[in-house]
Amino acid sequence: MNWSQAKINDFRQTLLAWYDREGRDLPWRRDHEPYHVLLSETMLQQTQVQTVIPYYLNFIAQFPTVAALAQAPEAAVLKTWEGLGYYSRARNLQKAAQQVASDRNGRWPTTAAELRQLQGVGPYTAGAVASIAFGEVTPAVDGNAFRVFARLFCIPDDITKPKTRQVFETLIQQVIDPKRPGDFNQAIMDLGASYMTAKDSDPAHSPVARFDESLKTNRVADFPVRTPKARPRPIEYYALAVRSPAGWLMQQRPAKGMLARLWLFPLVEVAALPEATPEAAAAWFAAATGHEVRLTPAPCPVVTHTFTHQKWQMTLLAADTAAFDPAGAAWVADFDGKALPTVQKKLLSALSKAGRLA
Ligand code: ADE
Repeated sequence: MNWSQAKINDFRQTLLAWYDREGRDLPWRRDHEPYHVLLSETMLQQTQVQTVIPYYLNFIAQFPTVAALAQAPEAAVLKTWEGLGYYSRARNLQKAAQQVASDRNGRWPTTAAELRQLQGVGPYTAGAVASIAFGEVTPAVDGNAFRVFARLFCIPDDITKPKTRQVFETLIQQVIDPKRPGDFNQAIMDLGASYMTAKDSDPAHSPVARFDESLKTNRVADFPVRTPKARPRPIEYYALAVRSPAGWLMQQRPAKGMLARLWLFPLVEVAALPEATPEAAAAWFAAATGHEVRLTPAPCPVVTHTFTHQKWQMTLLAADTAAFDPAGAAWVADFDGKALPTVQKKLLSALSKAGRLA
């Protein structure tokens, strides 16, 4: 770090004056309740601010306190999270609420180091809650902070390497404003969401342009340094929309892994079938359940959904069968009662467009 103390002071003052004038007015910034901060930071981990706002407001309406969340049925929590994705965040959040409400009698851990003891709380979330809710002078390094500081200082370290976090934390610890650490961290997030975005940045007009080494040396696009992400692996499935007089057959996903314990139409990987035909998928279903199905004639809509590491391409097959007792599955007549992942909602909407849902 090659900034003088005077330059550090100048930076703090410039950044916070801008934040006071132009920082975003977001619902979780209206108070510093640790529960509100933990909830918003958890939702914001993999989701855009504009998407999070209605979910955040609805969640605190449903579960107004950490005790209310701790006591809620898990299914109700998942239902409120429905469509946000990364459902383990919701389960971890509820476990963290139980740790605070029960194990700790409602007393929150107040430092980043202690907050790490809560389920699902990693270094970023711990830093955000400690600084925003409790005023601890500690960095909160998310993707925004990586990008902003990498550019300001032309930091050459690869941000996808776990060791690099320490490099940034050490640097930010020197620059962060000790009088307003939470506002400082959130101001950096706002810079990262406005003048210093990943694409379409306008760093020349940022309030801290004169501190930006990457701008001065015309290398904005070179930072942050990162090894490229692997492309999501394509997987082809048949999705079976099987209807009996009792409803649609839905399967609960396994307790571990993607979409754990959420409800979906039965899926069979095309590569696991002897041939890539609807009839082979129907034969697989009959072998797996002991019950024949009658395929509804084409069209078979194709639905795609991309997760972080996988891209699913699902050919949707509608079929009828007699009601039977489905081990590990359920007949669902009303889709509103269960938390459905977005991928299942896409299947339902394709089914509805094909005129099969009525
Ligand atoms: N992204 C992550 N945390 C945030 C916050 N507190 N405000 C705005 N964007 C964020």
